[in-house]
Amino acid sequence: MGLPMKTLPRPAFLEVTAGTASTIHELYKDCPSYFQLIGMEVPDLLDVERELEALGMDPYRRAHLLEVEGEVLGYVDYKMAYPETDSATISLLLIKESRQGQGLGKLAARGLEAELSGKVSQLYAVVYGNNQKARGFWLSLGYTHLRDGGPSLGWYSKSLV
Ligand code: ACO
Repeated sequence: MGLPMKTLPRPAFLEVTAGTASTIHELYKDCPSYFQLIGMEVPDLLDVERELEALGMDPYRRAHLLEVEGEVLGYVDYKMAYPETDSATISLLLIKESRQGQGLGKLAARGLEAELSGKVSQLYAVVYGNNQKARGFWLSLGYTHLRDGGPSLGWYSKSLV
């Protein structure tokens, strides 16, 4: 008989601040396959700091570190009131590579849906690159494929009403 499966708690959504740049950078370094997939170098610390500055200047953008049992295991970045005023769009949900496929992404997405329901009526997810895993992930969570904006951009959406 195998060991009982450990039930993961829903990740806590921590505020991202200028001081969390190095934590985000560490997480990015732990996700080399994703950056390879989208044809990008893993961002360096300065890139992350610049990104956080841009984030701080945009009142509609939100980003959170995803923490489970005191450990940062992911990151989520989304924009409120985009593309419609009563919607939001997730541009990146990233789970640490060694912890992917354990249900964390699903818990994080469900957590975000719960946080946004009542605030927006539609939640979108934009998938970059030839990312079949991400496409399968959003479909499995009940998102509908809306359209492809070119060969490497897929829009998915779900009603939160
Ligand atoms: N193919 C098809 N479906 C899949 C796959 C796959 N390779 N992997 C997971 N799924 C589906 C499964 O149906 C699974 O449900 P199940 O557990 O009932 O079988 C469901 O997704 C949830 O799986 P999780 O274990 O929660 O997925 P994970 O924790 O790995 O999170 C994520 C998914 C966010 C895509 C993660 O793998 C990741 O960070 N990947 C790298 C970055 C990335 O591609 N992020 C998404 C970009 S698109 C965007 O953010 C809008």
